[in-house]
Amino acid sequence: MITIKKKFSDSYNFVYNKIVLLRVDLNIPFENNQVLDSTRIKKILPTINNLLKHKAKIIIISHLGRPKGKWLDDFSLKVVISELENLTNKSVLFFKNNIKNIKKDEINEKFQDHDIIVFENIRFYPEEEKNDQKFTKKIASLGDIYINECFSCSHRNHSSISGIPEFLPSFPGELLENEIQNLKNLFLLSNHQDSVAVLGGAKISTKIKLIEFYASKFSKVLIGGAMANTILVSQGFEIGASLIEKKMIKFSNEVFKMFKDKILLPTDVIVSDKKLLKKAEVKLTTEINKTDVILDIGPKTRMLFFNEVVKAKTILWNGPLGFFEKKPFDEGTHYVLKSIKANKNKNFFSVAGGGDTISILNQSNCFNDFSFVSTGGGAFLEFIQGENMPGLSSLNE
Ligand code: 3PG
Repeated sequence: MITIKKKFSDSYNFVYNKIVLLRVDLNIPFENNQVLDSTRIKKILPTINNLLKHKAKIIIISHLGRPKGKWLDDFSLKVVISELENLTNKSVLFFKNNIKNIKKDEINEKFQDHDIIVFENIRFYPEEEKNDQKFTKKIASLGDIYINECFSCSHRNHSSISGIPEFLPSFPGELLENEIQNLKNLFLLSNHQDSVAVLGGAKISTKIKLIEFYASKFSKVLIGGAMANTILVSQGFEIGASLIEKKMIKFSNEVFKMFKDKILLPTDVIVSDKKLLKKAEVKLTTEINKTDVILDIGPKTRMLFFNEVVKAKTILWNGPLGFFEKKPFDEGTHYVLKSIKANKNKNFFSVAGGGDTISILNQSNCFNDFSFVSTGGGAFLEFIQGENMPGLSSLNE
């Protein structure tokens, strides 16, 4: 696991009257030109405000979605500008021209009237994901200092993540520092006896390593969501027409066998049919028939999971335990999430993150019940398994 030698506050001595290239994650959900969830903007406000307090000029660099090196209107960062202005209480200049053609003098001129400039989606440039050196040098030439406030992309070897630190004095942002500080607690626990991981989601292929890692470290791993189906099949259960990943059955069996005493699978579930026309019904996992589709954990499993979480001293949560997007199949996840609030253990430490986890917590109204919620998706999953992250190691060089 990596630690970062520099602190955000170390940058204060360098930013006065300087241009800071601030790499953030404005990859946020929106619909009809309206931002649906501004959590990721709110989380970077302390860094922006502190930089402005120290008289820095800020160029914000971010991606939005995966436009694959093409200039596509649907992925324009224009959509976040008014929300950013509202939350920072500043007028923000959206610079939509190609940055390959700008000179630093032009940027200096823009900063006469603004403190914050936002560049267009950095992934509109095919060079970004290739970590192209010429491109990286060009972006670096537009600023004086680089700050990585994008933990959620720090597993990527991209120009604006691991490239720029080769050319500019570089520092972590406050949020990135916070992410590392909190997430590393999952590693550094001296006693894993009362530690529980709650893992859900559809694809076991993206989580099997995580299951293995935490089953070997923690006292219990509770598994829900469609990924539990693949393990159930590997143990000889009939799961009807439910979602599974056939290619993962063998590996799931190996992992389950190795950690049988620690992994808890659903003992009952909520089923309907493929088109979700049949009324939702509770069934034991031994009673599933060929046309059933498993869509949520059942009441016995909810209680079982609740009881494990409520007495734990540490919780790691990732992913929904059922087909969360469609009511009533969100109920199992909501129910078990309540156990976080119900846990009254002294020094209880709970961390959530990865994929859709932030929106699940927001919808369940329990974002604030966790000690820490990571803004990272894939980066969160990689970091908590101790993998090397180019965006973090580059800050130490
Ligand atoms: C995320 O949403 O997890 C980050 O913005 C990273 O996005 P990416 O997986 O497209 O790099």
